[in-house]
Amino acid sequence: MSNRIYIYKGFERFWHWGQALLVILLLYTGFEIHGTLGFIGYEQAVNLHNKLVWALLVLISFAIFWHFTTGEWKQYIPTVKKLNHMIRYYLVGIFRNEPHPTRKTELSKLNPLQRITYLSLKILIFPVQIISGFAYYYYNELSEIGINISLGAIAFVHTAAAFVMLVFLIGHVYLTTTGHTVFSNIKAMITGWEDLEDEEKEPYIQEVKQEIS
Ligand code: HEM
Repeated sequence: MSNRIYIYKGFERFWHWGQALLVILLLYTGFEIHGTLGFIGYEQAVNLHNKLVWALLVLISFAIFWHFTTGEWKQYIPTVKKLNHMIRYYLVGIFRNEPHPTRKTELSKLNPLQRITYLSLKILIFPVQIISGFAYYYYNELSEIGINISLGAIAFVHTAAAFVMLVFLIGHVYLTTTGHTVFSNIKAMITGWEDLEDEEKEPYIQEVKQEIS
């Protein structure tokens, strides 16, 4: 058996890095608008923010199509199997060099914590961000047709969701560094291939056998 497994497909990697870049730029321009940052100024930030939004929406549309046509959406079905092992690992095991409680395979590349986190982002945080963003953008039009929501409330929800994304991003980047080496997970998301250590081969084969049985 080869020493590496193909985990992340081409489109998946493109979507992942595209989304990462767009979210970082949306966070940056958003916090310029908010007044927290002051490099490019309010007007330019609003302009850029509005353009980035459309790029994000196009990317998300392609990603939704890809997830459903390839069946990859199933990767996100939540499970509690080994969830407590994962939480214990991140709180204690990781600092004692214990082995990772789950194994990535082609059929199951997300651990239980990742499934719950990414699913929440997809079905809760992104929709909240997008809906509140459009409510912000079309605030006047909504008022004209009799939908009166306080602008303060819309701004609060939009900013709060942005903070959730920022916290996710920081946690996510930290966790990517906890693979075999600091950059092994990042390398896998760039090349698609995950390296297997010799001692991991047997457990990997067992995991795959269990999945297909
Ligand atoms: C990952 C996605 C996004 C992030 C992180 C983000 C972040 C932010 C932040 C932090 C602000 C400043 C809020 C304030 O101070 O009141 C903002 C403003 C805004 N965002 Fe977003 N945003 C995102 C997506 C969107 C989307 C999808 C739309 C949809 C149209 C949108 C439309 C707006 C508008 C209209 C404003 C206010 C601009 C103004 O004051 O003129 N955003 N965004």
